Amino acid sequence: MRMRTTSLLLATGVIVAVICAAVVTPTPRWKSSDDDLKIEELAKWALAEMKQGLQLINVLRCEEQDQGGPGIIYRIMLDALNRTGGMGHFTTDVYEEAATKVRTLLYFGIAR
Ligand SMILES: *[C@@H]1O[C@H](CO)[C@@H](O)[C@H](O)[C@H]1NC(C)=O
Repeated sequence: MRMRTTSLLLATGVIVAVICAAVVTPTPRWKSSDDDLKIEELAKWALAEMKQGLQLINVLRCEEQDQGGPGIIYRIMLDALNRTGGMGHFTTDVYEEAATKVRTLLYFGIAR
């Protein structure tokens, strides 16, 4: 139920209460991630790691890349509110090692 959204909604910028929307055209070598709770947790972790007072509003899209190594890279596009109440789109890449669950913030930036 939560996995469904339409690209029309995303294209028009309508905020949808969808966690981890299925990606219609995944980036090459990435696959759509379907572990909603995990992705939400990773998104919140990344925001906390930035220490800018950003608050998670919504996860727009998420993908994961299993490189056959000891961990997985998650790429999450999200909406967050900043301290002054302005909303922005952000993209973050989080690496999580499978055995230890140790996370590394690889990238965090404003998405256009
Ligand atoms: C908060 O977000 C708004 C809208 O994106 C932006 O105009 C404003 O500069 C941001 N404020 C901070 C402190 O980043």
